[in-house]
This record gives sequence, structure tokens and C-alpha cells, in this order.
Amino acid sequence: MSLQSFYSDKVVLITGASMGIGKELARQVLVAGGKAVITGRNVSRLQAVQREFESYADHLIIHAGDVADYKDNQVLVEKIIAQFGKLDVLINNAGISCFGEVEVLQEDVVRQVVDTNIYGSVFPVMAALPELKKTKGSILFVSSVAGFHGLPGHSTYSLSKMSLKALAQSLRTELLQHGVFAGIAYVGFTENETDKRTISPNGNPEPVPQRPKRLVASREETAVKILNQIRNRKAEEIHGWLGKFTGVMSRLFPSLLHLLIRKNYKKR
Ligand SMILES: NC(=O)c1ccc[n+]([C@@H]2O[C@H](COP(=O)([O-])OP(=O)(O)OC[C@H]3O[C@@H](n4cnc5c(N)ncnc54)[C@H](OP(=O)(O)O)[C@@H]3O)[C@@H](O)[C@H]2O)c1
Repeated sequence: MSLQSFYSDKVVLITGASMGIGKELARQVLVAGGKAVITGRNVSRLQAVQREFESYADHLIIHAGDVADYKDNQVLVEKIIAQFGKLDVLINNAGISCFGEVEVLQEDVVRQVVDTNIYGSVFPVMAALPELKKTKGSILFVSSVAGFHGLPGHSTYSLSKMSLKALAQSLRTELLQHGVFAGIAYVGFTENETDKRTISPNGNPEPVPQRPKRLVASREETAVKILNQIRNRKAEEIHGWLGKFTGVMSRLFPSLLHLLIRKNYKKR
């Protein structure tokens, strides 16, 4: 079954989809004929996406809310069922990052990242599960290469992305009897929106540094891989050569990977 026909009758909830990879995922679902529900905290950014996707108005719900807000996730799922009647796919995409060594991080910075990336992945699942069981649907967690090995200077982001593996693995077994799929995507460096921000140790949003072009995938490529993984019900997908290299090293040669990371960090 092609990607197009698979998603043509699906209702897909994508958290954190007012920009970046999430927005591209929504665009591809809509183009396939499916229905997309997109979330984010910034209302005007969501409204801009709504205007951009105007021709798909009947197939789109925008929802302003924080993924880490337990109650708001319940409200959102009720809204989806009232408007679209079902929910087939949940993509836990919303994520933020911060940088700085542990010692210099402000408490609030750590809390923000943990809230968004961890609670903001568990709570949407808790809200969506009763509906996903009815459709024998799918859950996909968007992790990162930072989820394979703790990255110095990015510890909180790493710990949040690594924790998604535990969640995906537990759910995979818990949900087997219900026919619900749970998978994880280790997304590689993907072309960033100019508006994308990372949080400094003292809590200021800062532009994300440019990465070498040869290491960066387009948002289209990343979104296609994620949508294919869900269609194929593949438990784990690692994007890009850097991700594959890190994934293999972390499994087979963890000490060597640790040494490589240490050497690279010292150099910087
Ligand atoms: N880009 C990469 O190179 C890369 C690589 C590996 C993994 N990833 C992962 O891929 C996912 C998407 O990355 P991206 O680069 O597309 O990010 P992005 O461009 O920064 O977009 C993040 C989206 O999440 C929303 N968001 C952030 N915090 C939220 C919250 N608490 N509640 C609801 N929505 C929230 C943002 O909207 P608001 O700010 O308005 O809430 C925005 O729509 C993330 O999980 C990221 O960690 C990205």
C-alpha cells in the first residue's frame, strides 16, 4: 500500500506541528487526503499554518496548548473525536532542547525540557490510548541521535530523548494484545526553520547553530521516513549515516563511542 493510500483515511495527531518537522508531517498527511491535528503553544504560529493549509480546512484542526498539560491532552482528544470521529495515529513530535553543562543549568531550564520532552510524550499517549485501541492505531515517538548516548553539554536533551526508548519499548509489549503499534524514530540532523530556538543555561531562547550541509536532511525526507515507519509498523528507525553509526557503536562498542565523544568534546 502506498503512503498516499495508507494515510488517505487516517486521522493523525501530531504534537508540536506549528513549524519544522511536525508541520511537514501534517502537510504530507493532508496531501494524502488524511486529517491532521496539529498542536503548539504559540497561537499566531498555528493560525499562520492554518492560513497556509487553507485548502485543507475541513481536514485540519489546530489546537493551542502545552503537551505537558495532562488535562489539556484529554480535552484535545475529546475535540478530535467530536470533529473527526476517531483517532488513528499519534506522533509525539513536540520537543525542545537546551545546552550547557549540568553545573550551570538553571532549574527551570531542566524542568522545561523534561516537562515538554518526557511528560509531553507520556500524557498525549495516556489521553489517546482509549481511542487508538478502537482503531488499532499507532504511536510514534520522535527521538534523536542524542537518545543513544549521553551528550556532554546537552545532558538534559539526551536524557529526555533516551527516556523515550523506555516508553516505546514498554508500550510495544503492553499494547500488542490491542493491536496498537508503538515505535521510535531516531531522527538525524534535519533542516531547521529560521525561527527554531534552543534554550541557553540561563533560560534565554537562542538561534540554533547551522550544521554542516552534508549532515542535514530536508524536512520532507525526514517526514517521509517517519510516515513510512508508521505505515510499516517498524519498531525502530534510525535516520542518516551519523545516526546509524552512533546506533551501531552504542550497541556493539559503547566504550569506543564514549571515547570518540569525549575526544570531540575536548577539542571543542
Ligand atoms: N531538527 C532536527 O535536526 C532534529 C534532530 C533530531 C530530533 N529532532 C526532534 O524532532 C522534533 C521536531 O523538531 P523540529 O526541529 O521540527 O522542532 P521545531 O522546529 O523547534 O518545532 C517544535 C514544535 O514543537 C512545538 N512545541 C514546543 N514545545 C511545546 C510544548 N510544550 N507544547 C506544545 N508544543 C510545543 C513548537 O511550537 P511552540 O513553540 O509554539 O509551542 C513547534 O511547533 C523534536 O522532538 C526534536 O527534538 C529534531
